[in-house]
Parts: sequence; structure tokens; C-alpha cells
Amino acid sequence: MAKPVSVRWRGRTPAVQDRTGNMQIRKAVFPVGGLGTRFLPATKALPKEMLPIVDKPLIQYAVEEARAAGIEEFIFVTGRGKTAIEDHFDHSYELEDLLSSRDKDQALAQIRDSVPPAGQVAYTRQQEPLGLGHAVWCARNLIGDEPFAVLLADDLILGEDPCLRQMVEAAGETGGNVVAVMDVPREHTGRYGVLDVGADDGRLAEVRGLVEKPDPAEAPSTLSVIGRYILVPEVFDYLSQMERGAGGEIQLTDAMAKLIGDHPFYGLRFTGTRFDCGDKLGFLKATVAFGLARDDLQEGLGAFLEDLVAGR
Ligand code: UTP
Repeated sequence: MAKPVSVRWRGRTPAVQDRTGNMQIRKAVFPVGGLGTRFLPATKALPKEMLPIVDKPLIQYAVEEARAAGIEEFIFVTGRGKTAIEDHFDHSYELEDLLSSRDKDQALAQIRDSVPPAGQVAYTRQQEPLGLGHAVWCARNLIGDEPFAVLLADDLILGEDPCLRQMVEAAGETGGNVVAVMDVPREHTGRYGVLDVGADDGRLAEVRGLVEKPDPAEAPSTLSVIGRYILVPEVFDYLSQMERGAGGEIQLTDAMAKLIGDHPFYGLRFTGTRFDCGDKLGFLKATVAFGLARDDLQEGLGAFLEDLVAGR
């Protein structure tokens, strides 16, 4: 597993320090309590996060990204019907025995490697899907008093450098909160948390304000937050207030907005291509892009797509 990346942290006295006194981002929250209604009927009995892109479930991509960023503790906020996720990150002795007896070494290594070390995974249940902010709040006692990451598995990012690793590095420069951001078409601002931008060097944009799902005409910019966050634990103080926001849900964006001014807060324009896999078209695009990025599939899939476009 990758070594934790050290991050200098301003604000509250750091709870976890390395030998040089720098802060570490050790814990990540994976909210997987949503209903996935846009993918019904596929998600009636199968969690949305278990939908595969090529041959790996969405949630495994997110966990691997977190591992590459030095995360050591993986906290899943689950809900009803999500037990497949717990099974996925556990050993399957029958399957491992079978693969071993058939000398399927590569497949065996793959499935063993996907299981996080014992004691480094925790599950807590969001009894009611009251919104993303509520899901993150459900992890408060498991996080405690240290900065942490949040990853939404349905935002999948294709790139050389894992997005969360870039964010941990950025947080080392800025301290405080860092969210991954990208420019979206103005007509899509109603789907995102949107930044009111202060100082901006083209990579890091200072967050002066945050609005959840604004109408295009009222959006302060088109720079929008995607499903990757590094947050200070003070966010729980605001989430505890249980205020309902856009769509009647307890929104993470609203609690994050209250941190502005008290803690450094930046949006990072990450490198990589992001796919919204909670949406059918985004999911299909991700399947094609990840397929084309695979050595074993590139040629066959590329030829098929060319034929398809040419109407052959
Ligand atoms: P979405 O807005 O995509 O909602 O949630 P959803 O329920 O998963 O999917 P649709 O819109 O009905 O198709 C964004 C992320 O927040 C989590 C989801 O699991 C997803 O990772 N979430 C959302 C929760 O964990 N709990 C909630 O109450 C809401």
C-alpha cells in the first residue's frame, strides 16, 4: 500500500501528525447510501456502486484511487441493499480455493489484492437516505478530529495521476479544505455545487462562496465541484445542524459553505477526465473510454467503434 502523504495543516490542532509534525490524510469516507434511481431497474437489487466499468465495480476504482493517495482507513456509509459492497471487499475463500486449484494465479492475485487489510475498513449505515451531507455526518465518530477525504464512486476519473493524490498534494500547499473542480457548460450548473471564485492561478481557485445546484442564470461561475473532497473535521459541526437544502436534502455543499472564511478553501482543477457514472450517458462514455485505455481491449473495441460510426 502507498505511504501516507504528509500535509501541513492550519486551523485546529492536528490530531494526527507524522514525525515532522505535518498532518496526514489517513481516512476516506465513501458514501454509498444513495438509491441510484437513475439506474433502475439495474439498481433494484444491485448497489449502483457495484455496476462495473469493463471488469471492475465503480467502488473498487474509488478505493484504489484512495489507496494511491495514501489513505489507510476506508469508511463506507451504506444503506439497505448494499451488502454486496461488504462482500466485495472481503475474502471469498471458496472462490480463492477454486482459482488456486485451477492455477488461475492472475485472477487469484487480483481478487486478493482488492481486499483492504483487516481492521482498516469500517461500515456504518445511513438508515434513511437524507442526502449526501447526512451520509458524511454518519461517519463523524469514525473520523474523529482529523481532516479526511470523501470520494463519490459514481464520479470516475481517467488519468495518469490519481485525482485524490493531486488533492492531498494541493492540501499540503494550502491547508484547510480542497475540492476537485471542473468547468461545466452553464446549462448544467443546476446539477452541481458551484464556486464563487476569488484568487485564481489557473490550477487552484480560492473558494469565496459555494451554491448548490444554482439555476444557470444565477450561478456565480461555471466552476463546479465533483465528487472528491478533503475536509476539515469542523464540517461536522455544521452538518449536525441538519439543515435541509436543495431538493429537501441535507447537503454537504451547504455545510462546506459555512467553513469559508474560517479555514483555507480551494478548488483544484485536477488533471484527468471525469465521467459521471451515476448518469446513463456518462456511464456508457466511461465504459468506452476505460475499454480503449486497456491494452487487451483497445484494438478490438477501437475496430468495432470505427465500424459502427462508418455504418458497416
Ligand atoms: P446521487 O445524487 O447520485 O443520488 O448521490 P443517488 O441516490 O445515488 O442516485 P439517483 O440520483 O437516485 O440516481 C451522490 C452520492 O451520494 C451518495 C450516493 O450513494 C452517491 O455516491 N448518497 C446520496 C448517500 O450516500 N446518501 C444519500 O442520502 C444521498
